[in-house]
Amino acid sequence: MFLRFFGREAHEGRMARAVGIDFGTTNSAVSVVRDGERPALARFRTRKGETPVFRSILYFDPERREGNGRLLPAAGPEAMELYRESGGAGRLMQSLKSFLGSRLFLSTNVYGTNLSLETLIGYLLSALRVGAEADLGDLGTRAVVGRPVRFVHARSDEDERLALARLRAAFRAAGFAQIEFEYEPVAAAYHYELGLDHDELVLIGDLGGGTSDFCLLRVGPRVRREGRTRVLGTDGVALAGDAFDGRVVRNLLAPRLGLGAEFRSIFGRVLPVPSWIYRHLERWHHFSQLRTPETLHLLHALRKECVEPGALDGLLHLVDHDLGFPLYRAIEAVKLALSQDPLARFAFSDGPIEIEEPLARVDFEQWIAQELGAIEDSVARLLGHCGVGAGEVDCVFLTGGSSLVPAVRHLFERRFGKERLRAGAELTSVASGLALRALE
Ligand SMILES: Nc1ncnc2c1ncn2[C@@H]1O[C@H](COP(=O)(O)OP(=O)(O)OP(=O)(O)O)[C@@H](O)[C@H]1O
Ligand SMILES: [Mg+2]
Repeated sequence: MFLRFFGREAHEGRMARAVGIDFGTTNSAVSVVRDGERPALARFRTRKGETPVFRSILYFDPERREGNGRLLPAAGPEAMELYRESGGAGRLMQSLKSFLGSRLFLSTNVYGTNLSLETLIGYLLSALRVGAEADLGDLGTRAVVGRPVRFVHARSDEDERLALARLRAAFRAAGFAQIEFEYEPVAAAYHYELGLDHDELVLIGDLGGGTSDFCLLRVGPRVRREGRTRVLGTDGVALAGDAFDGRVVRNLLAPRLGLGAEFRSIFGRVLPVPSWIYRHLERWHHFSQLRTPETLHLLHALRKECVEPGALDGLLHLVDHDLGFPLYRAIEAVKLALSQDPLARFAFSDGPIEIEEPLARVDFEQWIAQELGAIEDSVARLLGHCGVGAGEVDCVFLTGGSSLVPAVRHLFERRFGKERLRAGAELTSVASGLALRALE
C-alpha cells in the first residue's frame, strides 16, 4: 500500500513521507509521517514564535504587488500581521472553505482583479505549503486531504462534487497534483487510534468552524491487522463555530446596530430597516458582500431617513470600514471565554460603536439551542443508520475547536456518559490522522 501511494520516491531509495493536509474553515494544519514513526506537525513561524495551526485567512493590500503588477496575497500568520500593521486597511478573507459548495460564489473582484474561489484557496494553500516546507522540507505533489461529510451550502450530491472539484483545483494550483480525499472525522480516528492497545467501536465527532462531522468506526490493533471494514458510517451537518458566532451577532450585536429600527419610506410609510442586512452580518463569509456600492448606497439612504437619528451609524461604520475581522475576533474572544467561565464580557468599540456587555453562558447556550439540536440529530441519524445503540459505543472521541464548547460536550455526556468521552488535539488531530491515512 505504502509503495503504491509513494511508489516513485520509495523506488528511488529516498525515505518517502506521507503527507496529510487539513484545510479547515478557520484553521489549517499539515502533517508528515514516515513508516513506523509518529506523525510530525509542521510548525509555522510567526513573530510570536512557532505554531502548528495556520489560520485560514487571506489578505490583500492594494499596494502589495509583484513586478508585473499582480496582487501579492498574504495568508495565515503573515496575513494577520500585515492586516494589523495596516491599521485595518486592505481586504481580508476568511471561512473561504464555506463557499466551496455554493454555486452563487464563483469569483470576486479584488482591487480590479477578478479572482475565482479556486484561485483564492490556491493562494492560501500555496502559502500553507511554503510555511510547512520551511519546517519540514519539500512536501512533493501527493497528499491526503480532509473533506467534511457535508460541505456548507451544498444542497445536492452535485454540489458536493462541485465542492470537491474546486478543492482539487485549488490544491493543484498549490502544486499538489495527486490528492486523495478522506473524511475529516475518519482522519481524526487514525489519530485517536495511535494510543490504543485494544479494539474499540468509537464515535468520532469533529466540530470545527464550518461543519460538525461524525463517524462511527472500529479501531484498534486487531481490527487494523485483520483489515476488517472499519468505517460503519458517517454523518454531518454544515454548522459549527461560525454558526455559534452568528447567534451572538443576532442576539447581542444586531439589536445594538439598529435591528428593528424604522425609517420613513419615499411613500411616507414607516417601515423597519430590512432584516436581510443583519442576516448578512451573521456569517463572516457573507459580511463582505454588504460592501457593494449598491448596499452602501442603500445603507446611507436608510440612515438619512431613520426615525431615530443615529440608529444606523454603527452599522454603516462597520460596513464602510470593513470591520468584520475585528468584530468576529471580539465574538470569538467572548465565546472562548465562555468555554472557561460561566460569565464573560463582550467588548467592541470603534468609531460610533461602543458595546460592552456581560454575557452569561446560559444565554449563549439558549441562542445556539437550534444548532445543538441539529448536531444531536446528526449523531442520532448516524447511530440509527448503522443500527448501533448508544450503549454499544465503547468511546466517543471529540475533537475540533467547537468541541470545547461546554454545551457540546454535555450533549455527548448525556447520551454516552462522561466516562466514555475522550478528547484532545482539537486543532491538529485531523492533519495527523490524514498523514497516517496517507501512509496506509
Ligand atoms: N475554546 C473554545 N471554545 C469554543 N470555541 C472554540 C474554542 N477554540 C476554538 N473554537 C472554535 O472552533 C472553531 C475552529 O475549530 P477548528 O480549527 O477545529 O475548525 P476548522 O477545522 O478550521 O473548521 P472545519 O473543520 O469546519 O473546516 C472556530 O469556530 C473557533 O471559534
Ligand atoms: Mg476541521
